[in-house]
Amino acid sequence: MVLVSAPGKVILFGEHAVVYGEPALAGAIDRRTYLKAEKTKKGIKIRSEGSKEKDFPYVEKAAELAFEHIGRECGLEIEISSELPPASGLGTSASVAVSTILAVSELLGGGLEKKEIARLGHRVELEVQGAASPTDTATTTLGGILFILPKKQVFEPVEGELPLVIGYTKETSLTGELVRRVRERRDRNPEVVDPIIEDIGRITREAKETLGKGGAGIGELMDINHGLLEALGVGSERLSALVYAAREAGAEGAKITGAGGGGCMVAYAPGKEDAVARAIEEKGGAALKAPITREGVRVER
Ligand code: PMV
Repeated sequence: MVLVSAPGKVILFGEHAVVYGEPALAGAIDRRTYLKAEKTKKGIKIRSEGSKEKDFPYVEKAAELAFEHIGRECGLEIEISSELPPASGLGTSASVAVSTILAVSELLGGGLEKKEIARLGHRVELEVQGAASPTDTATTTLGGILFILPKKQVFEPVEGELPLVIGYTKETSLTGELVRRVRERRDRNPEVVDPIIEDIGRITREAKETLGKGGAGIGELMDINHGLLEALGVGSERLSALVYAAREAGAEGAKITGAGGGGCMVAYAPGKEDAVARAIEEKGGAALKAPITREGVRVER
């Protein structure tokens, strides 16, 4: 038996644009998904707490790719539990995928390194979702704050402190559907939508520099990024309500995080975390004060 865990993630800048080759800035958050795996004779049996069935295809594909990579296979009995709300855009599916890969590697003596786990995890997302950048899988594997260059598969650690408050709308959304929605909008109006995507890329590069210098100005960049995500069509009334409530309660900036259409927003609120969390709850959201963690996927025991 092996117990592994991996953190959730929050995309700070660059979601959706990263699907088109622009950079993203993402951080691993201190809320984890736990996966217990046992070797059996054959087949894969999965159990989970709460409604995580949507993550089962990620487990199955991750096991398949890990078997193929290691060159051996076995049956598996897997149990998943998570501190993350399901389908919230906080990276449950990526954390489940990389946890499965590490668990299989441990059970079969595969000795997979983090780089290989991140790469296989990305393939899982590509095969299950159709379109996916390496953002979620790299962040949950490696931990910390990462500047991600998707084309070069470069995951650069970024130092910096980020007092964040995450607001969950309690509305679920499907990443694949939102990615498709953006693609359709781009196909209809490429000359309008391409510059928005490039602009998000510029904001993300600027945010990385800003973070390195202590973070002053990050909030405004988040606000601009939020407006551009709205322009791509991934906003929702509830997301906007939480974004505005956070800003009014003293956040320096706030934006959608992840695919949008529901799911979560994130606010940068140094010294105002409690007031911002309260404002989010008063608007009907669930607030999560989740600090960044440096700990990526790991074996618990
Ligand atoms: O739904 P999430 O939080 O996993 O975020 C998806 C981020 C996108 O940029 C929309 C898609 C991707 O694969 O990067």
